[in-house]
Amino acid sequence: MDKVKLDKAWIQDPWPLYAEMRRQGPLRRVTMPDGVPGWLVTDHAQARALLDDRRLSKNVVRARPLFPPNAAAGYGTRLSEHMLNDDPPNHTRLRKLVTKAFTSRAVSRLRPRIEQIVDELLDGIDGETDFIESFAFPLPIAVISELLGVPPEDHSRIRAWSKIFVSGVTGTPLAEAARDQDRLLRDLIRAKRAVPTEDLLSDLVHVSDEGDQLSEDELVSMAFLLLFAGHETTVHLLGNAVYQLLTNPKQQELLRGDPGLLPGAVEEFLRIGSPIHIATLRFTTEAVSVDDVEIPAGEFVMISLLAANADEARFDDPHELDLTRPAGGHLAFGHGIHYCLGAPLARLEGEIAIGRLLARFPSLRLAVDPAELHWRTSTLVHGLRQLPIIAST
Ligand code: HEM
Repeated sequence: MDKVKLDKAWIQDPWPLYAEMRRQGPLRRVTMPDGVPGWLVTDHAQARALLDDRRLSKNVVRARPLFPPNAAAGYGTRLSEHMLNDDPPNHTRLRKLVTKAFTSRAVSRLRPRIEQIVDELLDGIDGETDFIESFAFPLPIAVISELLGVPPEDHSRIRAWSKIFVSGVTGTPLAEAARDQDRLLRDLIRAKRAVPTEDLLSDLVHVSDEGDQLSEDELVSMAFLLLFAGHETTVHLLGNAVYQLLTNPKQQELLRGDPGLLPGAVEEFLRIGSPIHIATLRFTTEAVSVDDVEIPAGEFVMISLLAANADEARFDDPHELDLTRPAGGHLAFGHGIHYCLGAPLARLEGEIAIGRLLARFPSLRLAVDPAELHWRTSTLVHGLRQLPIIAST
Protein backbone atom coordinates (compact mmCIF):
# COMPACT_ATOMS: atom_id res chain seq x y z
CA MET A 1 0.00 0.00 0.00
CA ASP A 2 1.21 3.52 -0.82
CA LYS A 3 2.91 5.63 1.77
CA VAL A 4 0.92 8.83 2.42
CA LYS A 5 2.63 12.18 2.94
CA LEU A 6 0.48 14.05 5.43
CA ASP A 7 0.37 17.79 4.86
CA LYS A 8 -1.34 20.91 6.12
CA ALA A 9 -4.44 20.26 3.98
CA TRP A 10 -4.93 16.96 5.83
CA ILE A 11 -4.93 18.79 9.18
CA GLN A 12 -7.66 21.20 7.97
CA ASP A 13 -9.85 18.29 6.82
CA PRO A 14 -8.62 14.81 7.85
CA TRP A 15 -11.95 13.06 7.29
CA PRO A 16 -11.69 12.02 3.61
CA LEU A 17 -8.33 10.31 4.26
CA TYR A 18 -9.63 8.66 7.44
CA ALA A 19 -12.71 7.31 5.65
CA GLU A 20 -10.54 5.92 2.84
CA MET A 21 -8.03 4.43 5.29
CA ARG A 22 -10.68 2.56 7.20
CA ARG A 23 -11.92 1.01 3.96
CA GLN A 24 -8.41 -0.14 3.05
CA GLY A 25 -7.08 -1.70 6.24
CA PRO A 26 -6.05 -1.19 9.81
CA LEU A 27 -2.83 0.75 9.26
CA ARG A 28 -1.20 3.05 6.78
CA ARG A 29 2.46 3.99 6.35
CA VAL A 30 2.72 7.78 6.54
CA THR A 31 5.17 10.64 6.72
CA MET A 32 4.07 13.37 9.12
CA PRO A 33 4.25 17.03 8.04
CA ASP A 34 7.52 17.42 10.03
CA GLY A 35 9.09 14.54 8.08
CA VAL A 36 8.78 11.87 10.79
CA PRO A 37 7.83 8.50 9.24
CA GLY A 38 5.48 6.08 10.98
CA TRP A 39 2.27 4.06 10.92
CA LEU A 40 -1.10 5.76 11.29
CA VAL A 41 -3.93 4.01 13.16
CA THR A 42 -7.53 5.22 12.70
CA ASP A 43 -9.66 2.32 13.89
CA HIS A 44 -11.14 2.52 17.42
CA ALA A 45 -10.51 -1.11 18.41
CA GLN A 46 -6.93 -1.10 17.08
CA ALA A 47 -6.21 2.28 18.66
CA ARG A 48 -7.44 1.08 22.03
CA ALA A 49 -5.41 -2.14 21.82
CA LEU A 50 -2.21 -0.34 20.77
CA LEU A 51 -2.54 2.31 23.52
CA ASP A 52 -2.42 -0.60 25.95
CA ASP A 53 0.35 -2.58 24.22
CA ARG A 54 3.57 -2.80 26.26
CA ARG A 55 5.58 -3.64 23.12
CA LEU A 56 5.15 0.04 22.23
CA SER A 57 7.55 2.24 24.18
CA LYS A 58 7.22 5.89 25.12
CA ASN A 59 10.77 6.32 26.38
CA VAL A 60 11.97 9.60 24.90
CA VAL A 61 15.67 8.91 25.45
CA ARG A 62 15.45 5.68 23.42
CA ALA A 63 13.27 7.39 20.81
CA ARG A 64 15.61 10.28 20.02
CA PRO A 65 17.90 8.36 17.61
CA LEU A 66 14.83 7.17 15.67
CA PHE A 67 13.91 10.71 14.57
CA PRO A 68 15.21 12.04 11.26
CA PRO A 69 17.71 14.93 11.75
CA ASN A 70 16.09 18.15 13.11
CA ALA A 71 12.69 16.55 13.64
CA ALA A 72 12.87 15.87 17.38
CA ALA A 73 12.80 19.54 18.48
CA GLY A 74 9.98 19.17 20.99
CA TYR A 75 11.63 16.15 22.56
CA GLY A 76 15.14 17.60 22.82
CA THR A 77 15.09 19.07 26.30
CA ARG A 78 15.47 17.54 29.74
CA LEU A 79 11.97 18.86 30.55
CA SER A 80 10.51 16.32 28.10
CA GLU A 81 11.84 13.42 30.21
CA HIS A 82 8.66 13.07 32.27
CA MET A 83 6.37 10.14 32.96
CA LEU A 84 4.27 10.56 29.79
CA ASN A 85 7.52 9.95 27.90
CA ASP A 86 8.59 6.92 29.92
CA ASP A 87 7.76 3.24 30.42
CA PRO A 88 7.39 0.97 33.44
CA PRO A 89 8.99 0.54 35.91
CA ASN A 90 9.88 4.24 36.11
CA HIS A 91 6.49 5.37 34.80
CA THR A 92 4.75 3.22 37.44
CA ARG A 93 6.89 4.71 40.19
CA LEU A 94 6.32 8.34 39.11
CA ARG A 95 2.58 7.85 38.50
CA LYS A 96 2.16 6.26 41.95
CA LEU A 97 3.80 9.21 43.65
CA VAL A 98 1.85 11.87 41.72
CA THR A 99 -1.45 10.00 42.20
CA LYS A 100 -0.93 10.21 45.98
CA ALA A 101 -0.83 14.01 45.73
CA PHE A 102 -3.22 14.69 42.81
CA THR A 103 -6.29 13.27 44.52
CA SER A 104 -9.97 13.78 43.69
CA ARG A 105 -10.13 15.89 46.88
CA ALA A 106 -7.45 18.19 45.48
CA VAL A 107 -9.52 18.55 42.30
CA SER A 108 -12.89 19.16 43.98
CA ARG A 109 -11.23 21.68 46.32
CA LEU A 110 -10.66 23.78 43.20
CA ARG A 111 -14.35 24.06 42.22
CA PRO A 112 -15.09 27.44 43.87
CA ARG A 113 -11.88 28.93 42.47
CA ILE A 114 -12.65 27.65 38.94
CA GLU A 115 -16.15 29.15 39.19
CA GLN A 116 -14.65 32.47 40.23
CA ILE A 117 -12.06 32.52 37.41
CA VAL A 118 -14.75 31.55 34.87
CA ASP A 119 -17.02 34.37 36.05
CA GLU A 120 -14.19 36.92 35.93
CA LEU A 121 -13.36 35.89 32.36
CA LEU A 122 -17.02 36.01 31.35
CA ASP A 123 -17.25 39.53 32.84
CA GLY A 124 -14.68 40.56 30.24
CA ILE A 125 -16.80 39.33 27.31
CA ASP A 126 -19.22 41.77 25.74
CA GLY A 127 -20.34 41.49 22.14
CA GLU A 128 -17.79 40.26 19.60
CA THR A 129 -14.67 38.48 20.85
CA ASP A 130 -12.25 35.69 19.99
CA PHE A 131 -13.40 32.98 22.40
CA ILE A 132 -10.01 31.22 22.30
CA GLU A 133 -8.01 34.33 23.22
CA SER A 134 -10.39 35.81 25.75
CA PHE A 135 -11.63 32.68 27.52
CA ALA A 136 -10.39 29.23 26.43
CA PHE A 137 -6.65 30.05 26.59
CA PRO A 138 -6.52 31.94 29.93
CA LEU A 139 -8.87 29.67 31.94
CA PRO A 140 -6.90 26.39 32.11
CA ILE A 141 -3.50 28.02 32.64
CA ALA A 142 -4.94 30.02 35.55
CA VAL A 143 -6.45 26.84 37.00
CA ILE A 144 -3.25 24.76 36.75
CA SER A 145 -1.11 27.60 38.08
CA GLU A 146 -3.52 27.80 41.02
CA LEU A 147 -3.53 24.01 41.48
CA LEU A 148 0.26 23.86 41.50
CA GLY A 149 0.57 26.86 43.80
CA VAL A 150 2.35 29.22 41.40
CA PRO A 151 2.10 32.69 43.02
CA PRO A 152 -0.27 35.10 41.20
CA GLU A 153 2.59 37.43 40.22
CA ASP A 154 4.15 34.62 38.13
CA HIS A 155 0.95 33.60 36.27
CA SER A 156 1.57 35.97 33.36
CA ARG A 157 5.07 34.55 32.80
CA ILE A 158 3.71 30.99 32.81
CA ARG A 159 1.08 32.12 30.29
CA ALA A 160 3.70 33.72 28.03
CA TRP A 161 5.91 30.56 28.06
CA SER A 162 2.90 28.41 27.37
CA LYS A 163 2.20 30.50 24.26
CA ILE A 164 5.76 29.78 23.09
CA PHE A 165 5.53 26.02 23.80
CA VAL A 166 2.27 25.66 21.88
CA SER A 167 3.26 27.92 18.98
CA GLY A 168 5.64 25.29 17.60
CA VAL A 169 8.61 27.72 17.48
CA THR A 170 12.02 26.16 17.90
CA GLY A 171 15.56 27.47 18.41
CA THR A 172 16.43 30.31 20.79
CA PRO A 173 12.90 31.37 21.91
CA LEU A 174 12.05 27.76 22.82
CA ALA A 175 15.37 27.19 24.61
CA GLU A 176 15.01 30.45 26.57
CA ALA A 177 11.41 29.73 27.58
CA ALA A 178 12.40 26.21 28.72
CA ARG A 179 15.37 27.58 30.69
CA ASP A 180 13.34 30.35 32.37
CA GLN A 181 10.48 28.04 33.26
CA ASP A 182 12.97 25.49 34.65
CA ARG A 183 14.47 28.23 36.85
CA LEU A 184 11.08 29.45 38.13
CA LEU A 185 9.98 25.89 38.96
CA ARG A 186 13.25 25.11 40.80
CA ASP A 187 12.90 28.28 42.90
CA LEU A 188 9.29 27.41 43.70
CA ILE A 189 10.19 23.84 44.65
CA ARG A 190 12.92 25.06 47.02
CA ALA A 191 10.51 27.55 48.61
CA LYS A 192 7.87 24.85 49.12
CA ARG A 193 10.44 22.45 50.55
CA ALA A 194 11.35 25.09 53.14
CA VAL A 195 7.77 26.17 53.91
CA PRO A 196 5.00 23.74 52.86
CA THR A 197 1.86 25.33 51.36
CA GLU A 198 -1.63 24.01 50.53
CA ASP A 199 -1.15 23.10 46.87
CA LEU A 200 -0.19 20.27 44.54
CA LEU A 201 3.46 21.25 44.03
CA SER A 202 4.01 21.41 47.78
CA ASP A 203 2.30 18.01 48.17
CA LEU A 204 4.51 16.60 45.40
CA VAL A 205 7.65 17.92 47.12
CA HIS A 206 6.67 16.21 50.37
CA VAL A 207 4.95 13.05 49.07
CA SER A 208 6.67 9.75 49.76
CA ASP A 209 5.96 6.13 49.03
CA GLU A 210 7.78 3.66 51.29
CA GLY A 211 10.62 6.14 51.62
CA ASP A 212 10.72 6.90 47.87
CA GLN A 213 10.42 10.57 46.87
CA LEU A 214 10.62 12.66 43.72
CA SER A 215 14.06 14.17 43.05
CA GLU A 216 14.32 17.87 42.21
CA ASP A 217 14.74 17.09 38.47
CA GLU A 218 11.71 14.78 38.59
CA LEU A 219 9.67 17.48 40.34
CA VAL A 220 10.59 20.02 37.67
CA SER A 221 9.66 17.76 34.75
CA MET A 222 6.46 16.65 36.53
CA ALA A 223 5.40 20.28 37.05
CA PHE A 224 6.26 21.01 33.43
CA LEU A 225 4.16 18.01 32.29
CA LEU A 226 1.18 19.14 34.37
CA LEU A 227 1.39 22.68 33.03
CA PHE A 228 1.78 21.50 29.46
CA ALA A 229 -0.62 18.51 29.46
CA GLY A 230 -3.32 20.40 31.29
CA HIS A 231 -3.23 23.56 29.24
CA GLU A 232 -3.71 23.40 25.48
CA THR A 233 -5.80 20.24 25.72
CA THR A 234 -8.36 22.02 27.90
CA VAL A 235 -8.19 25.14 25.67
CA HIS A 236 -9.42 23.01 22.79
CA LEU A 237 -11.98 21.07 24.80
CA LEU A 238 -13.58 24.48 25.45
CA GLY A 239 -13.03 25.88 21.94
CA ASN A 240 -14.23 22.74 20.16
CA ALA A 241 -17.26 22.47 22.46
CA VAL A 242 -18.36 26.04 21.73
CA TYR A 243 -17.71 25.55 18.01
CA GLN A 244 -19.96 22.45 18.09
CA LEU A 245 -22.71 24.28 19.98
CA LEU A 246 -22.66 27.25 17.61
CA THR A 247 -22.81 25.09 14.51
CA ASN A 248 -25.57 22.85 15.98
CA PRO A 249 -28.25 25.28 17.25
CA LYS A 250 -30.77 22.53 18.03
CA GLN A 251 -28.29 20.79 20.33
CA GLN A 252 -27.47 24.14 21.94
CA GLU A 253 -31.19 24.66 22.66
CA LEU A 254 -31.45 21.15 24.07
CA LEU A 255 -28.59 21.81 26.51
CA ARG A 256 -29.92 25.23 27.50
CA GLY A 257 -33.25 23.59 28.30
CA ASP A 258 -31.75 20.80 30.41
CA PRO A 259 -28.45 21.64 32.15
CA GLY A 260 -28.57 18.14 33.65
CA LEU A 261 -27.25 16.99 30.26
CA LEU A 262 -23.94 18.80 30.87
CA PRO A 263 -21.76 15.88 32.11
CA GLY A 264 -22.81 13.71 29.14
CA ALA A 265 -22.46 16.68 26.81
CA VAL A 266 -18.82 17.17 27.86
CA GLU A 267 -18.13 13.52 26.97
CA GLU A 268 -19.72 14.06 23.55
CA PHE A 269 -17.65 17.23 23.00
CA LEU A 270 -14.53 15.23 23.88
CA ARG A 271 -15.54 12.46 21.50
CA ILE A 272 -16.44 14.54 18.49
CA GLY A 273 -13.65 17.10 18.88
CA SER A 274 -10.86 15.18 20.60
CA PRO A 275 -8.44 17.95 21.70
CA ILE A 276 -5.50 15.59 21.12
CA HIS A 277 -5.43 14.57 17.48
CA ILE A 278 -2.56 12.08 17.40
CA ALA A 279 -1.59 10.45 20.71
CA THR A 280 1.91 11.28 21.92
CA LEU A 281 5.18 9.53 20.96
CA ARG A 282 5.15 5.73 20.71
CA PHE A 283 7.50 3.30 18.94
CA THR A 284 7.74 -0.47 18.56
CA THR A 285 10.42 -2.25 20.62
CA GLU A 286 9.84 -5.46 18.62
CA ALA A 287 7.85 -6.38 15.51
CA VAL A 288 4.12 -5.94 16.17
CA SER A 289 1.42 -7.46 13.93
CA VAL A 290 -1.90 -5.71 13.48
CA ASP A 291 -4.28 -7.99 11.55
CA ASP A 292 -2.01 -9.09 8.69
CA VAL A 293 0.27 -6.04 8.69
CA GLU A 294 3.62 -6.27 10.47
CA ILE A 295 5.21 -3.14 11.91
CA PRO A 296 8.96 -3.76 12.23
CA ALA A 297 10.82 -2.95 15.45
CA GLY A 298 12.00 0.63 15.97
CA GLU A 299 9.20 2.43 14.07
CA PHE A 300 6.83 5.16 15.22
CA VAL A 301 3.13 4.40 15.64
CA MET A 302 0.77 7.40 15.37
CA ILE A 303 -2.60 6.70 16.95
CA SER A 304 -5.28 9.13 15.78
CA LEU A 305 -7.62 9.64 18.74
CA LEU A 306 -9.69 12.01 16.60
CA ALA A 307 -10.20 9.31 13.95
CA ALA A 308 -10.83 6.52 16.50
CA ASN A 309 -13.57 8.62 18.09
CA ALA A 310 -15.27 8.92 14.70
CA ASP A 311 -15.11 5.20 13.89
CA GLU A 312 -18.60 4.23 12.67
CA ALA A 313 -18.00 0.68 13.90
CA ARG A 314 -17.95 2.09 17.45
CA PHE A 315 -20.26 5.16 17.31
CA ASP A 316 -23.43 5.53 15.19
CA ASP A 317 -23.45 8.61 12.91
CA PRO A 318 -20.08 9.66 14.36
CA HIS A 319 -20.02 13.09 12.72
CA GLU A 320 -23.36 14.08 14.26
CA LEU A 321 -23.22 15.95 17.57
CA ASP A 322 -25.68 14.13 19.83
CA LEU A 323 -25.53 15.35 23.42
CA THR A 324 -27.73 12.49 24.58
CA ARG A 325 -25.65 9.65 23.13
CA PRO A 326 -23.63 7.39 25.42
CA ALA A 327 -20.26 8.84 24.40
CA GLY A 328 -18.30 6.96 27.09
CA GLY A 329 -15.66 4.75 25.52
CA HIS A 330 -14.19 7.63 23.50
CA LEU A 331 -10.40 7.74 23.54
CA ALA A 332 -9.93 11.50 24.02
CA PHE A 333 -8.15 10.89 27.34
CA GLY A 334 -6.15 7.96 25.95
CA HIS A 335 -6.26 4.45 27.40
CA GLY A 336 -4.07 2.13 29.45
CA ILE A 337 -1.29 3.09 31.83
CA HIS A 338 -0.91 6.64 30.46
CA TYR A 339 -4.66 7.40 30.71
CA CYS A 340 -4.99 11.12 31.39
CA LEU A 341 -4.24 11.92 35.01
CA GLY A 342 -6.08 15.23 34.74
CA ALA A 343 -9.35 13.86 33.28
CA PRO A 344 -11.45 14.70 36.40
CA LEU A 345 -10.09 18.26 36.41
CA ALA A 346 -10.65 18.71 32.66
CA ARG A 347 -14.24 17.45 32.99
CA LEU A 348 -14.88 19.78 35.93
CA GLU A 349 -13.50 22.77 34.02
CA GLY A 350 -15.57 21.84 30.95
CA GLU A 351 -18.81 21.52 32.90
CA ILE A 352 -18.36 24.75 34.84
CA ALA A 353 -17.20 26.76 31.82
CA ILE A 354 -19.85 25.63 29.34
CA GLY A 355 -22.65 25.70 31.93
CA ARG A 356 -21.85 29.25 33.04
CA LEU A 357 -21.21 30.51 29.50
CA LEU A 358 -24.69 29.39 28.38
CA ALA A 359 -26.31 30.74 31.53
CA ARG A 360 -24.62 34.14 31.16
CA PHE A 361 -25.36 34.67 27.45
CA PRO A 362 -28.87 33.78 26.20
CA SER A 363 -27.61 34.45 22.69
CA LEU A 364 -24.33 33.10 21.37
CA ARG A 365 -23.41 32.88 17.71
CA LEU A 366 -20.46 32.68 15.37
CA ALA A 367 -19.18 36.06 14.15
CA VAL A 368 -17.90 34.54 10.88
CA ASP A 369 -18.89 31.89 8.39
CA PRO A 370 -17.71 28.44 9.62
CA ALA A 371 -15.74 28.10 6.35
CA GLU A 372 -13.50 30.96 7.52
CA LEU A 373 -12.34 29.09 10.62
CA HIS A 374 -8.89 27.45 10.58
CA TRP A 375 -7.55 24.57 12.60
CA ARG A 376 -4.11 24.81 14.18
CA THR A 377 -1.47 23.13 12.03
CA SER A 378 -0.25 20.94 14.88
CA THR A 379 -0.48 17.16 14.63
CA LEU A 380 -0.69 16.84 18.40
CA VAL A 381 -3.68 19.06 19.09
CA HIS A 382 -6.96 19.48 17.27
CA GLY A 383 -8.26 22.96 17.87
CA LEU A 384 -9.19 26.23 16.24
CA ARG A 385 -6.71 29.07 15.87
CA GLN A 386 -9.45 31.59 16.56
CA LEU A 387 -13.14 31.36 17.31
CA PRO A 388 -14.83 34.74 16.78
CA ILE A 389 -18.19 34.79 18.55
CA ILE A 390 -20.91 37.32 19.34
CA ALA A 391 -22.20 36.98 22.87
CA SER A 392 -25.21 38.96 24.07
CA THR A 393 -27.09 39.06 27.35
C1 HEM B 1 -2.08 12.15 29.59
C2 HEM B 1 -5.73 14.12 27.08
C3 HEM B 1 -6.29 17.54 30.47
C4 HEM B 1 -2.46 15.77 32.82
C5 HEM B 1 -3.04 12.38 28.64
C6 HEM B 1 -3.26 11.55 27.48
C7 HEM B 1 -4.27 12.12 26.77
C8 HEM B 1 -4.71 13.29 27.49
C9 HEM B 1 -4.85 11.62 25.45
C10 HEM B 1 -2.49 10.29 27.10
C11 HEM B 1 -1.55 10.56 25.97
C12 HEM B 1 -0.92 9.32 25.41
O1 HEM B 1 -1.10 8.22 25.95
O2 HEM B 1 -0.23 9.48 24.40
C13 HEM B 1 -6.18 15.21 27.79
C14 HEM B 1 -7.31 16.03 27.37
C15 HEM B 1 -7.47 16.99 28.34
C16 HEM B 1 -6.44 16.77 29.33
C17 HEM B 1 -8.13 15.83 26.11
C18 HEM B 1 -8.47 18.11 28.41
C19 HEM B 1 -9.63 18.09 27.85
C20 HEM B 1 -5.33 17.33 31.43
C21 HEM B 1 -5.18 18.12 32.64
C22 HEM B 1 -4.07 17.63 33.28
C23 HEM B 1 -3.56 16.52 32.50
C24 HEM B 1 -6.09 19.27 33.06
C25 HEM B 1 -3.44 18.04 34.58
C26 HEM B 1 -3.55 19.16 35.19
C27 HEM B 1 -2.05 14.66 32.12
C28 HEM B 1 -0.90 13.86 32.54
C29 HEM B 1 -0.78 12.82 31.61
C30 HEM B 1 -1.87 12.99 30.66
C31 HEM B 1 0.00 14.13 33.74
C32 HEM B 1 0.29 11.73 31.59
C33 HEM B 1 -0.20 10.48 32.28
C34 HEM B 1 0.81 9.35 32.27
O3 HEM B 1 1.80 9.39 31.52
O4 HEM B 1 0.61 8.40 33.05
N1 HEM B 1 -3.96 13.43 28.64
N2 HEM B 1 -5.68 15.69 28.95
N3 HEM B 1 -4.35 16.38 31.38
N4 HEM B 1 -2.62 14.10 31.02
FE1 HEM B 1 -4.22 14.83 30.07
